Amino acid sequence: MWPLVLEMIRMDRPHLTREELEPYWMPFTGNRQFKADPRMIVASEGVFLVDDSGRRVLDGLSGLWCCGVGHNRREIAEAVNAQLQTLDYAPAFQFGHPGAFALASRLKAITPVGLDYAFFTNSGSEAVDTALKMARAYWRLRGKSGKTRFIGRARGYHGVNYGGVSVGGIPANVEPFGPVLETALLSSTLLPENAFSRGIPAAGLELAEELIALIARFGADQIAAVIVEPVVGSGGVVPPPLGYLERLRAICDENEILLIFDEVITGLGRCGAMTAAEVFGVVPDIMTLAKQLTNGAIPMGAVMASAPIYEAFMNAGAPQHLLEFNHGYTYSGHPVGCAAALAVLDILEQEALPQRVAKEAMYFEDVLHELKGAPHLRDIRNFGFAGGLQLAPMEGDPTRRPFEVAMRMWHKGFYVRYGGDIIALGLPFIMERNEIDSLVTALGEVLDELD
Ligand SMILES: Cc1ncc(COP(=O)(O)O)c(C=O)c1O
Repeated sequence: MWPLVLEMIRMDRPHLTREELEPYWMPFTGNRQFKADPRMIVASEGVFLVDDSGRRVLDGLSGLWCCGVGHNRREIAEAVNAQLQTLDYAPAFQFGHPGAFALASRLKAITPVGLDYAFFTNSGSEAVDTALKMARAYWRLRGKSGKTRFIGRARGYHGVNYGGVSVGGIPANVEPFGPVLETALLSSTLLPENAFSRGIPAAGLELAEELIALIARFGADQIAAVIVEPVVGSGGVVPPPLGYLERLRAICDENEILLIFDEVITGLGRCGAMTAAEVFGVVPDIMTLAKQLTNGAIPMGAVMASAPIYEAFMNAGAPQHLLEFNHGYTYSGHPVGCAAALAVLDILEQEALPQRVAKEAMYFEDVLHELKGAPHLRDIRNFGFAGGLQLAPMEGDPTRRPFEVAMRMWHKGFYVRYGGDIIALGLPFIMERNEIDSLVTALGEVLDELD
């Protein structure tokens, strides 16, 4: 397979011209910088990407946290191909197809007991906005229509739709766009005293008590839900302090507030179990999934909801032919997405990949923390197969250093993500120890080279 891929690349056209690059307005990208120095990916296999020079680049972020079972898996391609030749599309509203029901049952089985219903979306952002609408509508159905406010957390990333940026805690993602939903944020649990913690940090449990203060300020009768990523991903790979998620759950229960876990990154293997909720033993009322759901092959997300939430919609007393939830997407539960997701779940289970992550996470942790003492490094954080390196800001250009690191890594044959003051690592679940070694060694070399 591999030589064939490289052969195809050799036959590929040479690099795109500046003119050819121009019309594409790239997402979350410095367009001008990219077009001046393009990084073009043309093929992938296992834990490698291949650029347009035929160079193999080790994928240190599983694409964008989504290709944990490895790139170009034959099983997924075959499932997608077979589905496309059988049923390319079925109307998502008022008609069904077996794949969506099969996938809902599989997700019910692998998420914590209580999350019994799956609503499908096309992305993590849509999953988040669906979850928020579900939460508000649920309270209205329960006769508590004042419960509309959401509480997020600083450094939280919940996608880019209006609901998601409203509850997100990354100012640069919300400030350019004017007024959004009124929300309140818990403080980030990123504390200086936790620097260089391995896995779960010891300090910060008391930050959960801020929720009590917010409830006192706004009133529980105004708050629909609290939304957090169990382990913060894009905001800098921040594992929760010991006991923190349990405490949030308890406070939500005491105050009739829904708890939403955004597991778009943490779900389906990355934390060493099918969900972070399982790892931490905390069950939310609503959970979002996306990314790993189809291993990145087809855009798809899901919202898992508890039985009481689903039943509140079903038992609202309206005639049966009326809609219970006026919400959905043309491509909700798309047959091809469902086929891909079912194939991914087979691979995760048959190859016991969440268990592999749980086992190998210690090795990753040990190797990553060997970087302690490297120049410019302020913190190292890790959980499962996620890692974050926090770099000291450059004077006058605080986000430049991670960018420099990522570019140098790319030229050395390694892909890592940069953003803010962070270099993020999200290893494919199948990554071998020697590959982890080479990735981390290269990071150490690059940090040494930097000014
Ligand atoms: C926790 C979390 N929620 C939501 C999203 C949004 O997902 P998407 O980019 O598929 O819309 C992301 C994407 O990185 C995410 O990390």
